[in-house]
Amino acid sequence: MYTYYMQSLLILGRQPALGMAELESLYGADKLRPVGEKAVIVDVDPCLLAFDRLGGSVKFCKVLTELDTVELKKIEKFLLKVSPGHSERMPEGKMNLGLSAIGLKTDVKQLSATALTLKKAIKKTGRNVRVIPNKSLELNTAQVLHNGLTKETGWELVFIRDDAKTIIAQTVKVQDIESYTRRDQGRPKRDAKVGMLPPKLAQIIINLATGKLPEDKLQNICDTPADQEIPLTLLNQSVLDPFCGTGVILQEAALMGYYPYGTDLEQRMIDFSEENLTWLISGNSRLDSIDFRLSQGDATTVAWKEVDFVASETYLGTPFTSLPSSENLERSVATCNQIVKKFLQNIHDQLQPGTRLCLAVPAWQIKSNQFKHLPLIDQISDLGYNRISFEHVRDGALIYCRPDQIVARELLVITRK
Ligand SMILES: C[S@@+](CC[C@H](N)C(=O)[O-])C[C@H]1O[C@@H](n2cnc3c(N)ncnc32)[C@H](O)[C@@H]1O
Repeated sequence: MYTYYMQSLLILGRQPALGMAELESLYGADKLRPVGEKAVIVDVDPCLLAFDRLGGSVKFCKVLTELDTVELKKIEKFLLKVSPGHSERMPEGKMNLGLSAIGLKTDVKQLSATALTLKKAIKKTGRNVRVIPNKSLELNTAQVLHNGLTKETGWELVFIRDDAKTIIAQTVKVQDIESYTRRDQGRPKRDAKVGMLPPKLAQIIINLATGKLPEDKLQNICDTPADQEIPLTLLNQSVLDPFCGTGVILQEAALMGYYPYGTDLEQRMIDFSEENLTWLISGNSRLDSIDFRLSQGDATTVAWKEVDFVASETYLGTPFTSLPSSENLERSVATCNQIVKKFLQNIHDQLQPGTRLCLAVPAWQIKSNQFKHLPLIDQISDLGYNRISFEHVRDGALIYCRPDQIVARELLVITRK
């Protein structure tokens, strides 16, 4: 009835298209098998997967098996057979058990009932079990972390519908939400006026800009004992953010092993970035060998030196909180378009052919899920760039937006011709 795999499966975040494009950029389309909308099997050595640098994947699981059914009752029947054996192989202590279901026709009540049935079966082996209650069909990252479900005595099983089958996977790692909060809210300088780029989105932008990871340089994390910190993979390449603001992208680039290089029109922003980077690096011994460069400059005219990748959230225009008049909207569109276009013209001859860029540019949500795009996107080839297409993500889907937001961010992934 089932076969055994030891494949890696990633559960994508709130906007799965962004997470999928990030994975395609890093590992290549042929290494990915999407499972429904929210999950993907990744054919990469798990020791080299570098999960900590993925902004768009929330859970890292290992595939245990695939069943020829999509019915929860049948999944439960199978698990009743294997769970007691699994419990016996675990180290002593109370077991924490959690269940998540993605794409199955079930509800929280039924899933909770299955968890209780499994609990009873495991208890018969003499082990105490605590079930983590489901508030929804998927346990969130905080629930997994706070209940130790990725520890040796934890067990989160994720059921993911795969057409007429169901993949059963076990969560191995989840995103380190505390670390994200620390480097976002804990940094000395923040500025609501230039916006608050979430660190996870900054990671996605960098991964889209850098493309495939050089496997020979990646740390084999399995070589690091569990009680030791994974050393930094120093990539010896620079990431330029020409609209660096308070430096969120620069911070994430440093944590990913790149040399941050930031410029901004405002000296105040350069000072903020400097303070934030100094705070990050001085508080993290892994970053001792990271040097950064910062200087004030107008992105439409400045000359940069030694740029390997460009990752940036550009000027986003007026931060509209409600739909503006068409006149005001057009004015903001024209200003943003002019700045980004002139920037692309300015940097073109300063980059080596083939250099990758990922720019978060504004897109305006004029109706629910309907966007006005920056006009220059249609002229990208005339500006001397090629737009990168993704096999598993349709063009135009790379938009980061909340339902009520007017100014969204569209991720433009291009190479210099
Ligand atoms: C949306 S903010 C970027 C925020 C940034 N991601 C952060 O971490 O704070 C855009 C930035 O572009 C800068 N900017 C606007 N016009 C510019 C220009 N012509 N050249 C360089 N920077 C510019 C602004 O000062 C602002 O800091």
